Amino acid sequence: MKGLILAGGSGRRLRPLTHTSAKQLVPIANRPILHYVIDDLVGVGITELGIVVGDTADEIRASVGDGSAWGATVTYIDQKAPLGLAHAVLVAKSFLGKGPFAMYLGDNMFEDSLDSVVAGFDGSGAAARLLLAKVEDPTTFGVAELGPGGAITALVEKPERPPSDLALVGVYLFGPRIHEAVRAIQPSARGELEITDAVQWLIDQGGVVEHRVLNGWWIDTGKKDPLLRCNELVLDTVLPLVDGAVDGQSSLDGPVRVERGAVVVDSRLVGPLIVGSGARVSASTVGPYVSVGANCRISRSTVERSVLMEDSRVDDVGLLTSSVLGREATVDGGEGFGAQPVSVLLGDHSVVNVGR
Ligand code: G1P
Repeated sequence: MKGLILAGGSGRRLRPLTHTSAKQLVPIANRPILHYVIDDLVGVGITELGIVVGDTADEIRASVGDGSAWGATVTYIDQKAPLGLAHAVLVAKSFLGKGPFAMYLGDNMFEDSLDSVVAGFDGSGAAARLLLAKVEDPTTFGVAELGPGGAITALVEKPERPPSDLALVGVYLFGPRIHEAVRAIQPSARGELEITDAVQWLIDQGGVVEHRVLNGWWIDTGKKDPLLRCNELVLDTVLPLVDGAVDGQSSLDGPVRVERGAVVVDSRLVGPLIVGSGARVSASTVGPYVSVGANCRISRSTVERSVLMEDSRVDDVGLLTSSVLGREATVDGGEGFGAQPVSVLLGDHSVVNVGR
């Protein structure tokens, strides 16, 4: 079975970060989301991968390469405009050929392995197998309606009145009939070829559409709060290790990972926390739940529940919380700013002086 990873899309809900970089490359515990996606597919033996790319193609190629780091082969497939998930299947047709495939949205993250999702699909003759998860607010997802026998009878994209609390999550298995389906449907009100409409077409044509309900957590990381929640869940699994230099004036509490070349001076580190290689933390309290990217600088500040991408900087900020800082972004409190909490989502290279 081949794997199709969708890494186009404009990342509207993570602007301004996504004005300059791909949402699939935002780091969670200092690794790009897309790398976890590839781990998952390769983990179930899917090594022939197609990655659908859009405006951020170069950055994605630079991050993933030819897939050999995973023992996989990667084919890049250009999608000229983000015209929907079903459109991505349309443009990937020649890569996909006639066999079954797993489609994985490149900004989704899962706790559990895909083993039980993929098992037995190839050769089953089913037109599709969907993965569903109970969610609190189904109005922002594709939603499945189940019939009395428990089978999916209908799918609706972002319904105002959801027929259930079962959202479609970002892994789909398809048989070859999906190619007919994506050609048969029309764009939705938001101007996209929706995969939900394509699957509805399969159901209407009498195709077997199976489903599995997810047990572990699942996060669509396309917005700041779910992204930060995902960072917390992954940091909970990070193994503590001190490979960098922590001076005698500093203390470590809980699971803390200080990577090679990182320097910690006169600071309190509270896990779960990761301090990336070459980062420098001084006279600060950092954690819990912070991913400090490579070569970041944190001075005279308190930082909690945040993602700091490479080379970003926090100086004199009483409390930076629930924030995402793009690459080389700076938050500066200035002298005497005090402890008022600051929460920001900054694009790459942004500079914010919160104290003035
Ligand atoms: C897409 C799908 C939706 C699905 C969601 C999962 O939504 O259209 O059916 O529930 O991914 O992340 P989008 O992220 O494009 O709004």
